[in-house]
Amino acid sequence: MPHLVSLALLVIVLALCLSILFFQGITGVPPLSSNATEAADVVALLKHSGLSKNVGLKERAIVYELGSGWGSLVIALARAFPAAEIRGIEISPLPYWVARLRTRDLPNVKLKRGNFYDCDLADAHAVTCYLMIKPMPKLGDFLDRRLKPRTPVVSISFWFRDRDAAAVLENSGPLGAAALYYWPARKTGAS
Ligand SMILES: C[S@@+](CC[C@H](N)C(=O)[O-])C[C@H]1O[C@@H](n2cnc3c(N)ncnc32)[C@H](O)[C@@H]1O
Repeated sequence: MPHLVSLALLVIVLALCLSILFFQGITGVPPLSSNATEAADVVALLKHSGLSKNVGLKERAIVYELGSGWGSLVIALARAFPAAEIRGIEISPLPYWVARLRTRDLPNVKLKRGNFYDCDLADAHAVTCYLMIKPMPKLGDFLDRRLKPRTPVVSISFWFRDRDAAAVLENSGPLGAAALYYWPARKTGAS
């Protein structure tokens, strides 16, 4: 009997690990966590954007973390903006469940498992992401359809090439730099 339990546990762990590869194959994005400096840069850029100040007195600022992974950025945002609601969306089950565990004591975090392209985002006061080069153009088009004009969007490392960043922080070095856009932030002359 103990052998059966160990075997079942092994199969579950193996399936979860394979699921990481599977979802990485689908999205083209590995579940890397942002480090403390990158997260601090995102927080600083959101403060610079006036998040919280731009929200009505009775309203709660809502921040969407697209591809919330193991929860590192969600946790930094939840601590930096305790009056805001941080909504993380993650497609890969293992990082999602680990993030659920890590954020269990943070009342202002809501995590959802799924594809962020299925989310509405109409109530977003800000959006954050840390993805890869390939999904950025598709994500840009998606945000064009979903966000209210001038919604702050902060991206770590991989930027929107056809958009003008309003501010950039490079405390983690150029590879971890974070850029702030006021959506849609189209470059002059770009359609
Ligand atoms: C590089 S990790 C960043 C994790 C987290 N944002 C952080 O900064 O610590 C990117 C995550 O985005 C997730 N992801 C990529 N495309 C997605 C999609 N369309 N819907 C939901 N999650 C997605 C991946 O599974 C991965 O865990």
